[in-house]
Amino acid sequence: MPSIIQCPVCREPLLPTATGYQCAALHCFDAARQGYVNLVLSHNKHSKEPGDDPEMVLSRRRFLELGFYNPVSDGINEAIGTVLAELERGSGCSVLDAGCGEGFYLARLKKTLAQGSASPLVLEYHGVDVSKFAIRLATQRDRSMGWFVASINDLPYLDASLDLVLNVFSPANTPEFARILKEGGSLVFVSPGPRHLNGLREIIYPVTREHGAPAITAKAEAFFAPAAVSRITYPLELKSNEEIMDLLAMTPYYWNIDRETKAKVTALDYLQLDVDVEIRVFRKKSGNGEPTET
Ligand SMILES: C[S@@+](CC[C@H](N)C(=O)[O-])C[C@H]1O[C@@H](n2cnc3c(N)ncnc32)[C@H](O)[C@@H]1O
Ligand SMILES: [Zn+2]
Repeated sequence: MPSIIQCPVCREPLLPTATGYQCAALHCFDAARQGYVNLVLSHNKHSKEPGDDPEMVLSRRRFLELGFYNPVSDGINEAIGTVLAELERGSGCSVLDAGCGEGFYLARLKKTLAQGSASPLVLEYHGVDVSKFAIRLATQRDRSMGWFVASINDLPYLDASLDLVLNVFSPANTPEFARILKEGGSLVFVSPGPRHLNGLREIIYPVTREHGAPAITAKAEAFFAPAAVSRITYPLELKSNEEIMDLLAMTPYYWNIDRETKAKVTALDYLQLDVDVEIRVFRKKSGNGEPTET
């Protein structure tokens, strides 16, 4: 497949070289020894180490590896399987996980799709996160995927070059997703459902409100038509303090709660809670605003 990577300096295609990537204007980006490429330009960095820090990334890796979110990943894979089933067999297909963290969902997607079909699509997998710690860990999962340190606000992909963008519990930039998707391409957006993490939230907040509908539907409207919604809900039991603390470190609550509340959670050895996740599929509209037939 031709390169779909875009030079962050001049916006021309970046082509693979022996040591990384280079564009026609000779802007060069070397691959790190772990196999990923950092495409964040230093003057665009808003902090020294943007995105999740090593502690959060390692907590997420440990928690996800215990299988607690496997049903969420299965639901995502089913939604994506349905989207890809509509594409022509044998044709090339590029999938990006934007805000991929340590790569759990993308690695499981690849495994599932590899098992699924006798005559599969030719799939190219990419993961982008602004945290280099997250991408370093993600690279360990599968070095054959394209792993890039980059921001969802400036994705290193050519216009209309991808078939599917996945976005799980991460910041979203719908105009940027629309730019890099082909016409008729799909955005799979995954966010907390109304009761997500109830059980933990009741310890943290005196009054627990249900999560409202995500802002994505209104934000996406200019570029995308809604195609499908599904919801995954199940009860979860955490039976050790380490599991509970790892979950806490994966959530925004970790940074927002006061010392006293953190101490309450830190004292727990057992926690029952709800997992409640919504998966929305959007299809990119054609130039005239209509969803494209596939
Ligand atoms: C809650 S985590 C979710 C990670 C992964 N999708 C998962 O569910 O396991 C949010 C991720 O978004 C990343 N992130 C935050 N701001 C970002 C940005 N502007 N561009 C790309 N990634 C970003 C963080 O580094 C972190 O890995
Ligand atoms: Zn360039």
